[in-house]
This record gives sequence, structure tokens and C-alpha cells, in this order.
Amino acid sequence: MSQQRILPEHIGIIMDGNGRWAKKRGKPRMEGHRAGAKNFRVITRYCNKIGIKVLTVYAFSTENWRRPSEEVNALMRLFYDYLVEALRDFREENIRTRFIGDVSAFHPKLQKLIAETEELSADKTGLVLNIAMNYGGRAEMITAMRSIAADCAEGRLTADQIDEELFSSRLYTAGQPDPDLIIRPSGEYRTSNFLLWQSAYSEYVFMDDILWPDFTTDDLERAIDIYSARNRRYGGV
Ligand code: FPP
Repeated sequence: MSQQRILPEHIGIIMDGNGRWAKKRGKPRMEGHRAGAKNFRVITRYCNKIGIKVLTVYAFSTENWRRPSEEVNALMRLFYDYLVEALRDFREENIRTRFIGDVSAFHPKLQKLIAETEELSADKTGLVLNIAMNYGGRAEMITAMRSIAADCAEGRLTADQIDEELFSSRLYTAGQPDPDLIIRPSGEYRTSNFLLWQSAYSEYVFMDDILWPDFTTDDLERAIDIYSARNRRYGGV
């Protein structure tokens, strides 16, 4: 008897392999990022269509600043151009776009676009899209700890009031369900500082036969099927 498929509420994707995709084709790395950005739109729309509640994509980590400055600058331009275009479409598609990470490090023009996008899509009721930019799980936890420490120092909180729920409420993902499924294409088997706290019980699907720009909606379906066949026990039996 076939079991009913379980759809994850929250999917995280580490969009990896853009550089290798370009190299395989003898193209500059930025071509890979451009193809990756295009694909990000396709996959986001599809997640909205099939009823995923939250999608979090890793677009730029706190460590990605270490890349050569030409690549970082070109990536910033790409984010800007694609966000202008994609966000207009997403607005028409009932997608609520949010940004997670320290966006204060970005160029003021990009920050303005980020703020506008969040504001204009705030009332959308479909998919919640979290775009992780200048995001790191450790940095996120430090920020949460600092806000809790400040509340303790000023007498608004006592140490015994600090619990998992309170800590979660100080993260960028406050109020959202934890990711059920985290997908990483490209053959790297690492979490790379992505949603460290939130992924405590996430199911990871590492897909080593595909690079992000080639990742199709069929690959997403394949990952969901793998997830659905797993037996989540949350530490129980
Ligand atoms: C990892 O591939 C990818 C990135 C660091 C950038 C991801 C960005 C995009 C897909 C564009 C998204 C666009 C928007 C607007 C959110 P890599 O360069 O590490 O690939 P490699 O491991 O093959 O070198």
C-alpha cells in the first residue's frame, strides 16, 4: 500500500554549484550565478504553486565576503538587478518576501530595495520567501544572545526566563516553523552555517548529481519524496 506523501511546510535550499556549472561550460563564474538566480525564481514560483508555506534560500553568507572583490561586486549587482525584476513578479504572485541576515552591510541602494520589497509584500498570503543575505547561523545566534543579554542587564528579563521558545523568538525566523527539509545540491555535504539553530531536527537531502543552475522542479519533487519517505522521530522512538 502506498503511503500518502507528506509535504514539508518549510524548505531550505543551499543554492550551491554555480561556479562549477560555469566552469564545466568554459564560462566565467558570474554566468553560473546568473543562471542560478534565474533558477531561484523558477523554484520559488513552483514552491508557491504546490503550497509550501516557507522557503528559505541561501544567497550570500557572512563568509562570502572573502571571495575576490570582483566576484562580490558582480554578485551585488546581480542581486540588485534580479531583485528589481523578480520582486515585481513575486508581488503579482502572492509571495511575501523577507530578508534574513545583516543587510546593513549592503550598499544603501540595495538596502532600500530590500526594505521596499519587504514592505510591499508584507500583506501577501502565499509562500513566505526568506532570502538569506549576509546571513550566518552563528552571527544570528550572537545577535539573539546580545538582545537577550541587554534585556537581562536592564531588568526586563531574568536568566530563568530564557528558554528555547524565547531564543527562537529573537532569531530572524521568529514565528516561522523550523525547516523540515534542507536541500543542498552539488555534492558538498556540509551545512555551511545555514539555519544552525532552526535545523536541529531538519531532514537533509544532499543531491550530488546536480548543480544549482540545473536543479529542476523534478529534482525538488525528488527531494520531497525522499523527505516524505523518512520517519521523523524528534529524538523519540
Ligand atoms: C554558491 O555557488 C552560490 C552563491 C554563493 C551565490 C548564490 C546566489 C544565487 C544563486 C543568486 C540568487 C539571486 C538572488 C536574487 C537571491 P558557488 O559559487 O559556491 O559555486 P561553486 O561551489 O561551484 O564555486
